[in-house]
Amino acid sequence: MKAYYKFTAMAAAALMIAASCQKQETPAATGANSTEAVIENIMTRTSIRQFTSEPIGADTLETILKAGMAAPTAVNKQPWAFVAVTERAVLDSLDAAHPMARLSTATAAIVVCGDLNLAIEGPGQEYWIQDCSAASENILLAAHAYGLGAVWCGVYPTEERVANVKAALGLPENIIPLNIITMGHPAQNPEPKDKWVPSKVHYQRW
Ligand SMILES: Cc1cc2nc3c(=O)[nH]c(=O)nc-3n(C[C@H](O)[C@H](O)[C@H](O)COP(=O)(O)O)c2cc1C
Repeated sequence: MKAYYKFTAMAAAALMIAASCQKQETPAATGANSTEAVIENIMTRTSIRQFTSEPIGADTLETILKAGMAAPTAVNKQPWAFVAVTERAVLDSLDAAHPMARLSTATAAIVVCGDLNLAIEGPGQEYWIQDCSAASENILLAAHAYGLGAVWCGVYPTEERVANVKAALGLPENIIPLNIITMGHPAQNPEPKDKWVPSKVHYQRW
């Protein structure tokens, strides 16, 4: 990772920690460099699937989980639950539960789950998927800000993966795993993909 990215990623991590613990500062108070750091963190995130054996610190993992729970949710329902996994045996059981999770070198995983008991009742129930997706992106960005690698491995709505992950973790009936976010210190350094396609943006009307 280039030195500039390292600096900006660390600055973004500091910003996220501050945001989770304190009253949020206005953009004017945080200044242009902080704003650039946050944007840079978003633009340089990319999926990482190979990791070193260095573990992730417990405090770092908790801050990443806090970033997840800082996400917006429909009607502020926060219909989620998170299973943070660092034990090798459980990571291996998740690897077996998901054909493309690539957990063999991951030192941690966060399984982001919807809690149907907390979800909106009736036709809005499926907003839990968007709520948990917002939490998932926050987790990916927080991990990246710490210089960690991560990848979102989809579980729901593939029925077999849902059943396998539920069995591996002993999840109750009302808890639905949306994904497995595998994490660790990166052992690869792929270039972020440039996905900006101006023609996909429609201003004012289609
Ligand atoms: C809903 C969803 C499901 C995904 N499932 C997997 C998966 O099972 N295995 C995997 O290696 N990556 C998975 N990914 C990661 C994507 O492959 C990756 O985000 C995409 O190729 C774009 O690359 P980037 O993350 O580096 O920008 C998933 C991503 C999303 C959003």
